Amino acid sequence: MRFRIGLGFLVLLSLCFTVKSRCSRSCDLALAKYSVWSGSNLTLISQLMDTDIETIVNYNNGTVPNTDSVLAGTKINIPFKCECVNGQFLGHMFEYDVFTGDTYAKVAQTDYANLTTVEALTWFNSYAPTNIPNNAKLNVSVNCSCGDTTVSKDYGLFITYPLQPGDTLASIAQAEQLNQTLLQRYNPGVNFSKGSGFVYIPGKDEKGSYRSLKSSPGLAGVAIAGIIVAVIAGVLILGGGAYFGYYRKNKVDAKLLLATSDDQSSQNGRALSITTDKPEESNGAGRGPTGISVDKSVEFSYEELSRATDNFSLANKIGQGGFGAVYYAELRGELDGNLMGTRTIM
Ligand SMILES: *[C@@H]1O[C@H](CO)[C@@H](O)[C@H](O)[C@H]1NC(C)=O
Ligand SMILES: *[C@@H]1O[C@H](CO)[C@@H](O)[C@H](O)[C@H]1NC(C)=O
Ligand SMILES: *[C@@H]1O[C@H](CO)[C@@H](O)[C@H](O)[C@H]1NC(C)=O
Ligand SMILES: *[C@@H]1O[C@H](CO)[C@@H](O)[C@H](O)[C@H]1NC(C)=O
Ligand SMILES: *[C@@H]1O[C@H](CO)[C@@H](O)[C@H](O)[C@H]1NC(C)=O
Ligand SMILES: *[C@@H]1O[C@H](CO)[C@@H](O)[C@H](O)[C@H]1NC(C)=O
Ligand SMILES: *[C@@H]1O[C@H](CO)[C@@H](O)[C@H](O)[C@H]1NC(C)=O
Repeated sequence: MRFRIGLGFLVLLSLCFTVKSRCSRSCDLALAKYSVWSGSNLTLISQLMDTDIETIVNYNNGTVPNTDSVLAGTKINIPFKCECVNGQFLGHMFEYDVFTGDTYAKVAQTDYANLTTVEALTWFNSYAPTNIPNNAKLNVSVNCSCGDTTVSKDYGLFITYPLQPGDTLASIAQAEQLNQTLLQRYNPGVNFSKGSGFVYIPGKDEKGSYRSLKSSPGLAGVAIAGIIVAVIAGVLILGGGAYFGYYRKNKVDAKLLLATSDDQSSQNGRALSITTDKPEESNGAGRGPTGISVDKSVEFSYEELSRATDNFSLANKIGQGGFGAVYYAELRGELDGNLMGTRTIM
């Protein structure tokens, strides 16, 4: 029983780790590079991005001199919670209240300033892209990054940056005052001039400093997951082998454990706790509150057990465990000699 619970627990554990491993590394905070569009203002942006104006101002030292009006085209950093969404990817799910005439394209390209995509909206929402009911709520996912120990441990806060036509590696590096080599290494294989898609670039916190990666173990999530899966597989294989070995052994010779107590020795009969299949459980179940101790292991024939338990009558059954039923049996007088050493084949 205990073994089976253990197996179940291991399987559960392995499931947890398989799911978890999709998000290789997690963190609390990320930044979104929001490109202000004409008609928007900080009130609207703070509502869309689930934050407040003061916080936005704090993360954009000098970029937002006037909270009442921000020039269209200005790029501001907006902090958001970076989580493991559905156990699948690092991001955050915003909730958007639909207005009349909204489409997925408008929500992605205007309201969320290309921080999400039409594909993602289609994936996370059940509505038809061109027929969204008024006053509905949309699931809006924005992806994020928590850094990469293989690139640098100096950066643990990242900006999700939607590439726009006209952007280049050089222009972004200059605007962010970062080394081009570093930027490219955080976005391997990405063409910064492609005009769409995302890149992740190190960002500064509200104190104006780069946040370093927490000094957690430097193993990549994939490697950790691999090791865990290997260990669990090993345990399962070993455990499975041990279980079947144990099971077969018990099929061949069913042993009987005799439980007796000093208090009861003066009585005519003796309490005997037996099981028809496997002994381990009967041992535990037979131990009463007074603490009956196991003296020795004795073997009985099937007929003897059958007689002693009144043909395994329900009336004599005192318990049921994962390894078999537990019966109460009385073996008057016979205990002292004759039964000892009788070979049992079951
Ligand atoms: C901000 O923009 C929204 C939508 O464009 C508008 O309804 C609102 O009046 C504006 N607020 C301010 C303070 O300009
Ligand atoms: C989003 O991308 C589209 C296509 O590149 C562009 O026309 C639009 O201006 C972008 N939105 C913002 C807010 O920059
Ligand atoms: C976020 O990342 C996931 C997994 O990489 C991807 O399937 C999804 O399309 C991305 N979402 C956005 C809005 O880019
Ligand atoms: C948004 O996501 C939640 C949770 O995944 C889901 O229950 C809900 O149906 C989604 N909304 C839409 C409009 O599909
Ligand atoms: C950029 O970083 C790389 C390695 O991280 C370094 O070799 C190179 O000299 C740096 N370039 C500049 C201009 O600082
Ligand atoms: C990157 O994309 C741009 C625009 O699509 C293209 O002109 C350029 O050749 C690409 N660069 C590389 C190295 O592929
Ligand atoms: C804000 O910017 C000014 C000048 O650009 C700089 O002197 C100051 O240290 C910055 N403060 C923070 C908190 O980043």
